Amino acid sequence: MTDAYHQLLDAAIQHLESLKARGVRSVPIDPANLTALARPATPSPSRSRPESPAPVARPAASPATSLFAAPSSLVLSPEAKAAAFADLRSRAMACVKCTHLANSRKNVVFGVGNIDATLMFVGEAPGADEDQQGEPFVGKAGQLLTKIIQTMGLKRNEVYIANVLKCRPDTPGQSAGNRKPTPEEMQTCIPYLHEQIDLIKPQVLVALGATAVEGLLGKTVGITRLRGNWQIYRNIPLMPTYHPAYLLRNQALSEKRKIWEDMLAVMEKLGLPISEKQRNFFLKG
Ligand code: URA
Repeated sequence: MTDAYHQLLDAAIQHLESLKARGVRSVPIDPANLTALARPATPSPSRSRPESPAPVARPAASPATSLFAAPSSLVLSPEAKAAAFADLRSRAMACVKCTHLANSRKNVVFGVGNIDATLMFVGEAPGADEDQQGEPFVGKAGQLLTKIIQTMGLKRNEVYIANVLKCRPDTPGQSAGNRKPTPEEMQTCIPYLHEQIDLIKPQVLVALGATAVEGLLGKTVGITRLRGNWQIYRNIPLMPTYHPAYLLRNQALSEKRKIWEDMLAVMEKLGLPISEKQRNFFLKG
């Protein structure tokens, strides 16, 4: 039996114990998942998958392969899902794994939105405004993200928004400015994001900027090259695009159009209606 199999079992046990601790007494489970737990298959060599667009509906993989693809194959009742999410949230809110960040933060910025969202946006890390308010993407870049979401015909509270890092990267000795999370900080914090995604199970992920791509896919390819090209994160189609902060720095129509084209592709993937007006946003003349 493989390490991956044992890690999966440990994760399942930990998850069930945390549900039990919260008073959940029954969890409906697909019998196929139980069968798969009893019969581990040879794990796929890596999490990397073909980088082609995937259908929105997740393919019905064989139980064993789906288990190794992601523990997310556990299907929870709405009550168990809400309890698991609340448990995850309280663990993240109390996290002190990065002592320096726990000491400097005002708030842990866990995430916001609909835990049943079909669309999830992932950013880098909270800035000063987010740290202050305890909510992701509420500063200038966040207001632009909210506008983008609304232009897609959605409401901010219909999607889910989270970051790779749940604490603001500290900037000792500086009164303003942000810094990129370090690889160690990202590695320490990313399990919370993986768990959020596993529970929410969005149909589409949008990675906002290079750090989000790096955190989710482990790729350090420049965002300029990657944006607009569908990627796959644990069977979920992932669209890399520019971080909205980039648009604040570069207001050229051509750059706005690039992000917008990425969002049109996301809307198509989700089967959202697209008007002629929406199709033509940010086109010249
Ligand atoms: N930038 C991010 O990446 N995330 C936020 O929450 C705010 C700004």
